[in-house]
Amino acid sequence: MSLFQPPSTPAAGSLAPPVDVVIMAAGKGTRMKSRLPKVLQRLAHVPLVQHVLATAQQLQARSAVVVTGHGAEQVEAALMPMASTLALKFVRQEPQLGTGHAVQQAVPALGDDGVVVVLSGDVPLTQADTLQALIALCAGQHLALLTIDLPDPAGYGRVVRAGEAVTAIVEHKDANAAQRAITEIYSGIMAVPAALLKRWLARLDNHNAQGEYYLTDIVKFAVQDGVTVLAQKTDDAVQVAGINSPVQLAELERAFQRRQALALMEAGVRLADPARLDIRGRLTCGMDVEIDVNCIFEGVVSLGDGVTIGAHCVLANCAVEAGAVIHPFTHIDGGAQGAHVGQGALVGPFARLRPGANLGAGVHIGNFVEVKNSTLAAGAKANHLAYLGDATVGERVNFGAGSITANYDGANKHRTTIEADVHVGSNCVLVAPVTLGAGVTVGGGSTITKDVPAGALSVARGKQVTIANWTRPEKKSKQSIS
Ligand code: UD1
Ligand code: CA
Repeated sequence: MSLFQPPSTPAAGSLAPPVDVVIMAAGKGTRMKSRLPKVLQRLAHVPLVQHVLATAQQLQARSAVVVTGHGAEQVEAALMPMASTLALKFVRQEPQLGTGHAVQQAVPALGDDGVVVVLSGDVPLTQADTLQALIALCAGQHLALLTIDLPDPAGYGRVVRAGEAVTAIVEHKDANAAQRAITEIYSGIMAVPAALLKRWLARLDNHNAQGEYYLTDIVKFAVQDGVTVLAQKTDDAVQVAGINSPVQLAELERAFQRRQALALMEAGVRLADPARLDIRGRLTCGMDVEIDVNCIFEGVVSLGDGVTIGAHCVLANCAVEAGAVIHPFTHIDGGAQGAHVGQGALVGPFARLRPGANLGAGVHIGNFVEVKNSTLAAGAKANHLAYLGDATVGERVNFGAGSITANYDGANKHRTTIEADVHVGSNCVLVAPVTLGAGVTVGGGSTITKDVPAGALSVARGKQVTIANWTRPEKKSKQSIS
């Protein structure tokens, strides 16, 4: 048995054994008090276990074996779409008899030639470089544990050492007073040669305070077999923090958001308050981007150079080009189609851009204006209380206050085409399908149902009637009624 068999797809010049990740995700998570399996609770809108699998992908692991139990079908369905970059395998653990028992279920899915990295589906924020260092410490031959000093180590497995050498992990419930005084705890994360892991797993028993098969007992076997046990101590509690309750979930969410905010600021983004920003996806920013308080970014969002985002904006799946200004309380959600705000455009306050909103350079979208599946060419304006749905709007068009495209006839959607330099007055209804030719003027209050040729004025409303010296009817007095 060689621990140094070349991996099936070796990195050029590398002798490192392949990495197989085991993700324990069978637990119920009773303290979440939720119908959702714990590992599917969301951090930054992403299920916890997806964070863990994403980290495994960054490690360029050969495979990931996910141990499922509670809510197995749901957990598997959530991970299946991520299978592309590594071999993803699922094994069931029924019933759940402890972490050692969990990893035992993974054994048939693991090769003998690799290094196994054991992770938990409820520890979402471990960084790939931390695991890379642990794998390097394992070096294909040692048992490497990730540990941390905690001011309050209660509940965790204690790392027992003789001098520097690690001799055992003792679970809290099995620990004596002296062991409970140890502040160095096992994080739940280890790197171990697969062949050794398999040998040790076969020796586990459940003779302990909890009647469980403890994965941590393998430390004892390593010592017995003369295999070196090494501990890599991290000082970053966030990376090893597990989720057991809604409070812990919210705390870790804040820590994660703070981390993202710091990274943005380090890249030059000016945040009015890093504590009042939430990124639930991927936000990329150019130079001199400024973001005011209480903004939320979801999905994939990009902000070009010099973009300003006002307070209380929600931006999802959109691209905002250089110099554009998004005023406060604006909601942009491009959905699957995306949304695009052109260079120097002004949007909001209180604007709503929906999927397929595509604003050219210098476009103005003002308060209470909704844009869906519509293209506005450079310089077009809809500044107040308007709806543009399924519309193609030409350059420099001015779309008046309170005007809308009536794009839906109750069964089908139709397009409205408004060519360049059209002026649509206030409170107009453009009943699609309809085309306004270049330079058309539409009188305020018109309901336009037929195409208007270029250059024409179109007015479609009741004629004003004025009656001079009009006497209003008067209320009858109470006396006159009786
Ligand atoms: C475990 C470690 C402990 C360590 C702690 C860090 C053991 C015996 N103890 O504690 O030393 O300090 O993690 O958080 O390993 N799971 C299964 N099947 C099971 C049991 C657990 O899949 O039968 C999963 C859970 O869903 C969870 C992970 O394993 O994702 C860890 O389980 P948990 O019960 O939190 O760990 P402890 O045993 O408390
Ligand atoms: Ca636990």
